[in-house]
Amino acid sequence: MKHSELSVFKENQHKISCLTAYDASMAKLLDQAGVDAILIGDSLGMVIQGAENTQSVSMHDMIYHTSIVSKVCSDALIIADMPFKSYDNSEDALNNAKALIDVGARMVKLEGGSEHSEVIKTLISNNINICGHLGLQPQLVVSSDDYRVQGRDESSAREIISNASCLESLGVSALVLECIPSNLAKTVSEKLKIPTIGIGAGRDCDGQVLVSYDMLGITSGKQPRFVRNFLKNQNTISDALESFVAEVKEGTFPLQSESY
Ligand code: KIV
Repeated sequence: MKHSELSVFKENQHKISCLTAYDASMAKLLDQAGVDAILIGDSLGMVIQGAENTQSVSMHDMIYHTSIVSKVCSDALIIADMPFKSYDNSEDALNNAKALIDVGARMVKLEGGSEHSEVIKTLISNNINICGHLGLQPQLVVSSDDYRVQGRDESSAREIISNASCLESLGVSALVLECIPSNLAKTVSEKLKIPTIGIGAGRDCDGQVLVSYDMLGITSGKQPRFVRNFLKNQNTISDALESFVAEVKEGTFPLQSESY
């Protein structure tokens, strides 16, 4: 899928399904299940490397995982995360984004808003497609106590809305909204022409993303309320992935009880 097709999904009111993958076997299953976009997330720090947060993930790690995922996918849009500190200035950001594109990413994702305007302008003027990420920004999370719903009060909600508009005006192609109240995500989604992809942001986003290991029940410990175990009522991993795609498309995932 081309990055421009994400906007067509929104125009046609078709929801976008997105899951993370880090290895070839899982990526192949996701692609075959009809997942629209596959994110090589820096969640691999916790999921694959057993770290407490995403900050230790390097460009070397991201290039390795992006190259193996993108080699086996034929349909899904491949989005790769720019890891912590890889986009602190325009020159580094451009070199690092190009390295991810060279191994098969069609779009790169970076966290934050207007503070990255110069970096974003540089990437876009070099034809690199960008997905933004607002709300909870995992790269700012150091310990599990930092996982909190964002945008609950008026001023932080206003900041998220203004950063979302800023990212759109800079030419970002899509926007992940993580862990924000569903009414705020609805406001942002209605305001923007570009699609929003929510995780813990309610049903009114234009698409949904989950960490694949979470939605298959592999991740241990207490899960946030927005994680549904799709394997629970299915016999195979492929069935669980197809069920995720179907429920996102039908708008039956997430429920209000799985939102804030
Ligand atoms: O790294 C990741 O998996 C992500 C998702 C939580 C959206 O950024």
